[in-house]
Amino acid sequence: MYFPAYRPRRLRKNSAIRELVTETKLSADDFVYPMFVMPGKNKRVAVKSMPGIYKQSIDNLIKEIREVKKLGIKAILLFGIPSHKDERGTEGYDKDGIIQRAVREIKKRVKDIIVITDVCMCEYTSHGHCGIIKDGDVDNDETLKYLAHMSLSHAEAGADIVAPSDMMDGRVGVIRDELDENGHHDTAIMSYSAKYASAFYGPFREAAESPPQFGDRRSYQMDPPNVREALREIELDIEEGADIVMVKPALPYLDVVRAVREEFDHPVAAYQVSGEYSMVKAAGKLGWIDQELVMMETLISIKRAGADLILTYFAKDAAKVLSR
Ligand code: PBG
Repeated sequence: MYFPAYRPRRLRKNSAIRELVTETKLSADDFVYPMFVMPGKNKRVAVKSMPGIYKQSIDNLIKEIREVKKLGIKAILLFGIPSHKDERGTEGYDKDGIIQRAVREIKKRVKDIIVITDVCMCEYTSHGHCGIIKDGDVDNDETLKYLAHMSLSHAEAGADIVAPSDMMDGRVGVIRDELDENGHHDTAIMSYSAKYASAFYGPFREAAESPPQFGDRRSYQMDPPNVREALREIELDIEEGADIVMVKPALPYLDVVRAVREEFDHPVAAYQVSGEYSMVKAAGKLGWIDQELVMMETLISIKRAGADLILTYFAKDAAKVLSR
């Protein structure tokens, strides 16, 4: 049937009818809220390039987690800012490191919040790279041991899900083995499987104080032009035991999210990264776009592309909109 008999506008007439035929719906429980924890007491430091996002000491972090929970958000992703950085990122796998202490406190004081921990060395190393340096580059196999120790220390502290974001080859398998050998078969792995070497991580590196001190991350993170390679990365991670696979960034890589959704059955996460957030906030502040509408449109696009979970700094703002 064609025009004039068929008129698509009939089902767009008002919001009630549009909602009746909507294909995709967002909900607060799609979101994971990334948070930054730092040492100290009663600390709350604004991340300049990410309005609304703070680095906080554990006490203030817990206050914000309570607020996050009230908004219907079920999970947080934790990044740690250590008090000390060195060549081997030792605080990353110290049982009294910032993340390990934060997770223990959260689990003691807040009920029913899923705690996901980012597993990567870049926040803990003095050189800012995501692993152990040998001959001017990150040594893959040497780094695996550290990632396994770090994951185990997070699981021992009580993390529900560990999320390796380093992009070393073989890390999911090594982490799975380490967790299982130590009785943590119930700790899930959300793997940053298709993580691109993206300039959209800029503001995050200010927040996490983790820019590489030399070179860049292109020898381990993926090259932006590739999508078939992303499918191979996802397949490897699933073979090695990943429970959830992730594509990162989100909006500039929606084709990758869609390709992964079509090829695999595992839950797919998409990470709307710091630069994606900052751009919307900045243009909104200048009055060049309607911040709230653009935010909701980006999120629905990510879901429509096929993401089951969305990691986003907008989680709280969007949950508020959804509850109106
Ligand atoms: C750590 C890590 C990064 C992000 C998440 N985990 C930074 C990087 O790889 O440089 C980026 C998150 C964001 O930009 O919001 N490796």
